[in-house]
Amino acid sequence: MSVPLFVLAAIADNGVIGDDNRLIWQLSSDLKRFRQLTLGHPMLMGRKTFQSIGKALPGRETVVLTRDPAFAAEGVHVAHDLAGALDLCRDLAKRMQAPGIAVVGGADVYAQTLPLADRLHLTEVHATPHGDAFFPDWDRKSFKVISKEDFPSGPRDEYAYSFIDYQRVRT
Ligand SMILES: NC(=O)c1ccc[n+]([C@@H]2O[C@H](COP(=O)([O-])OP(=O)(O)OC[C@H]3O[C@@H](n4cnc5c(N)ncnc54)[C@H](OP(=O)(O)O)[C@@H]3O)[C@@H](O)[C@H]2O)c1
Repeated sequence: MSVPLFVLAAIADNGVIGDDNRLIWQLSSDLKRFRQLTLGHPMLMGRKTFQSIGKALPGRETVVLTRDPAFAAEGVHVAHDLAGALDLCRDLAKRMQAPGIAVVGGADVYAQTLPLADRLHLTEVHATPHGDAFFPDWDRKSFKVISKEDFPSGPRDEYAYSFIDYQRVRT
């Protein structure tokens, strides 16, 4: 049986998702949502995103994609191609009894997995920062919005933001 794939990303109004391999905003509410949505799931990420986070996050199983045969890091699984990474994530999801696989970036990994995604959990960050990593173009026609909530900036959220969930429309 297939395990649904969902993509999580925080994207500025100009498409920027990062700069110099780091996140470029303080959005405590988004980090909280990220935690809620990923806890108990296998999480797939690119090597650069893993290095930007710096460690395996507790309560999840981290699968890092890299072409470097020597790559190793404490507490993570390593995969060397997308198909192998997805097989590993599916096995982990079954073992964890997780309802899905979370793809958490970055740009390179989003570009390869968006065509396979069943759901998108996007945070629109209402800002236009400078950056060098962008969310790739995706096939909007194949998804419908299933929820959208708008929030103002606040003491712990640097910018106004919206949480938008999309579901793939099967034809
Ligand atoms: N705003 C957000 O929600 C969000 C989320 C995540 C990340 N980000 C940002 O995104 C940026 C990083 O994105 P990125 O595109 O530069 O890097 P990335 O997607 O995190 O990682 C790219 C690396 O993953 C490995 N890789 C990718 N596809 C592979 C494949 N099919 N087989 C084997 N290995 C593969 C390669 O690693 P090797 O070079 O080791 O071979 C590649 O260099 C950072 O600025 C980060 O802060 C933002």
